[in-house]
Amino acid sequence: MNENIKIIRGEIFDFLGEFTHDASQPVARFLTDGAIAIQNGKIIDINYYKDLQAQYPDAPCTDYSGKLILPGFIDTHIHFPQTEIIGSFGHQLIDWLSSYAFPAEKEFRNEDYAKAVAEIFVQELFKNGTTSCLAFSTVHKESVNALFETASKYNMRMITGKVWMNRNGDPALMDNTETAYTETKELIEKWHKNGRNLYALTPRFAISCDDESLALQGELHREYPDTYIQTHLSENKQEVKIIQALFPEAKDYLEVYEKAGLVTDRTVFAHGIHLSDSELERLAKAGATIAHCPTSNLFLGSGLFNLKHTHEAGVQTAIATDVGGGTSFSLLRTLDEAYKVQHLQGYALKPFEAFYRITLGAAKALKIDHLVGNFDPGKEADFVVLDCGVTTTQKMRINFLNRNHALDIETLLFGLQITGDDRNVVATYVMGEKVYEK
Ligand code: GUN
Ligand code: ZN
Repeated sequence: MNENIKIIRGEIFDFLGEFTHDASQPVARFLTDGAIAIQNGKIIDINYYKDLQAQYPDAPCTDYSGKLILPGFIDTHIHFPQTEIIGSFGHQLIDWLSSYAFPAEKEFRNEDYAKAVAEIFVQELFKNGTTSCLAFSTVHKESVNALFETASKYNMRMITGKVWMNRNGDPALMDNTETAYTETKELIEKWHKNGRNLYALTPRFAISCDDESLALQGELHREYPDTYIQTHLSENKQEVKIIQALFPEAKDYLEVYEKAGLVTDRTVFAHGIHLSDSELERLAKAGATIAHCPTSNLFLGSGLFNLKHTHEAGVQTAIATDVGGGTSFSLLRTLDEAYKVQHLQGYALKPFEAFYRITLGAAKALKIDHLVGNFDPGKEADFVVLDCGVTTTQKMRINFLNRNHALDIETLLFGLQITGDDRNVVATYVMGEKVYEK
């Protein structure tokens, strides 16, 4: 029975359950000199290294002593075809889409091109410690096939889908609802729950989709109720005004999606910056998630998302990159920006909460927390190995904290949250296999 077991040793940190601000509730598990045992890609045990080693004396051990081992990061909103246009200068959302995003996305009708970018995209994720994502492809089925095929090659848990857009965009990206419906059905049948792949219905946003298109996507979700829905909501003030003009009968932006049956507990809305209290209340009731994308919101000048207010309204959130409106693949860089965006509004995003929202919290939002998100036995062994002190200043900070007897897991994680990036990622593992090493 003890065949094919391997042990990974290091400083193991993960979350045990729902994050809460109640300090009396233990939310995290930290094993200095801990270890996980892996068999056939899954975690079978977690303990202090000594105990685990005694239990599986013949198992080979990969030793990351002194390095932090966290569950793989989960990016709940990212655009794979925008990899090449990160940091495109100057415009706010609507003009940025037509100047940069749409021209880049047109290329993905070519499957070879899509495959080449998909490979780079997945490698960038691994390099940054991200092991799962909910990603936009493009309107072309070729782009969806390319991303699922690439993810499958690494046995990575991927959620994506064909973008729907039938108006107000580049004519070369417009689709008709009939073709979109047929192609989406074929893609769901082909990819949903095929290996670790899962399908997400992907209306770009209501500016790009008319009522008929949105309703049809709602219908598809009812037909395949365990698919996901991903879209954009209330990111930019000009966008909200256009929605009011396009849907004069709707009382607000969210109602447009509600009428189409697209507001569910399997829906992830990117941004949600300019929402009314009524919209927040309805999102909470539906159990939908808002993916907060701070690097994108700052870069595109979209506004300051209020995490505290959103949580007080009972809405579930995660933190995401939104590459290429977002400026980095690194969820560590993203946590840094999230901290600053919240701090400007009087809320300090502590490290436990921050890391929860890119690990177990993101897994819960995507309803894959029974599969990934922490190191409970039975879960898939997706994890990242981190060195908290790679730069001169990171090393100095750690030494300073040590001298002052103030170095604990929270201060270590906060250092990563504020100063970390891909340089801190030592290795990334997917289903127990190394997919990246620095
Ligand atoms: N809204 C509709 N499409 C997009 C996109 O590609 N990026 C961002 N940030 N917002 C959008
Ligand atoms: Zn986006």
